[in-house]
This record gives sequence, structure tokens and C-alpha cells, in this order.
Amino acid sequence: MPIIEVNMLEGRSPDDKERLIQALTDAAITSIGAPRETVRIILREMPSGHFAVGGQSLRRKRLQRPPGRNSVTSGLHRIRIVGGGEFSCGEDERILLAMERYGSSDIGVGCRGGGCGICRVRVVGGDYTTGKMSAAKISETERAAGFALACRVFPVSDLLIEVG
Ligand code: FES
Repeated sequence: MPIIEVNMLEGRSPDDKERLIQALTDAAITSIGAPRETVRIILREMPSGHFAVGGQSLRRKRLQRPPGRNSVTSGLHRIRIVGGGEFSCGEDERILLAMERYGSSDIGVGCRGGGCGICRVRVVGGDYTTGKMSAAKISETERAAGFALACRVFPVSDLLIEVG
């Protein structure tokens, strides 16, 4: 009976966690031949203050960033939509999920996994990082021009984005 435990930072969507559970279960089945019904998965989420490297928590590391990099001490950033509304998004959160949490209907929602391209945006201002995005939906040239898939964008500062 394999038991797989995963510790991760808070902020993943329920759908992401379901996908992770399925992937880990499938990995146990294919790698060690475990019967599906015997595979146990335990996910543990932790706040950024409960994860540290080299004696410094992720939360403290964020708070120590130079002014302007992180304008709100809680680690939240303000995301403004050109010609639309605004919402807050943490650095561990993808802006599409934050937008959904705020009830915004400014953007389409599909796979939430960087594959379908429906959540395409252009970041006009601010710093951000991205997770894996479909190269068929966002080319390198488009990436360089600020285009991204909102379900894979993590803010590092306040952002100004264009939708559509
Ligand atoms: S929702 Fe499908 S790529 Fe973002």
C-alpha cells in the first residue's frame, strides 16, 4: 500500500489538486505496479510563513524585497485590467484564479492548465513569472511581447493587463 505525501504552498485550485492526485496515482501504478485501489495520496498545504530555506521563510523573503517590487506588505499585488476592473492576487496565486475569486467575467476560463489558450492576456506593465504554457497558444515572440496565459501567470509586482 504506497502512501505518497506532498507538501506544497497554498494557492492551488481544487482542479489542480485533483490532477496532481491522478498523476501521482498513475505514477505509482506504472512505476511499482501498485493496484489503483491501494494508492493513498496525502496533500498538505502550508502558508508561505511555514516554508523556509536557509533560515528564512518565504514570507519574510517577500517582505524584504525592495520597495516597489511588492507594494502591499501582505504579499498581495494589485492587478488592473485595461478598461476594466481590478483585483488582488498573491505571488503564489495565478491571476486567472484570483480573477475568478473576485467574480470577474472579463476573461474566458477553460482548462486552467495552460493548454487551451482561452485565458490569453497581455501584460502591459509590471513583473511576473509564468508556469508552463502551450507553445501552440503562445509563441516565443508573443511571450517576449508580454502575451501570456492568465492561468499560468504569477505576479511579482502590481500588474496592468489587457484581456482579449
Ligand atoms: S484556461 Fe486554458 S490556457 Fe488558461
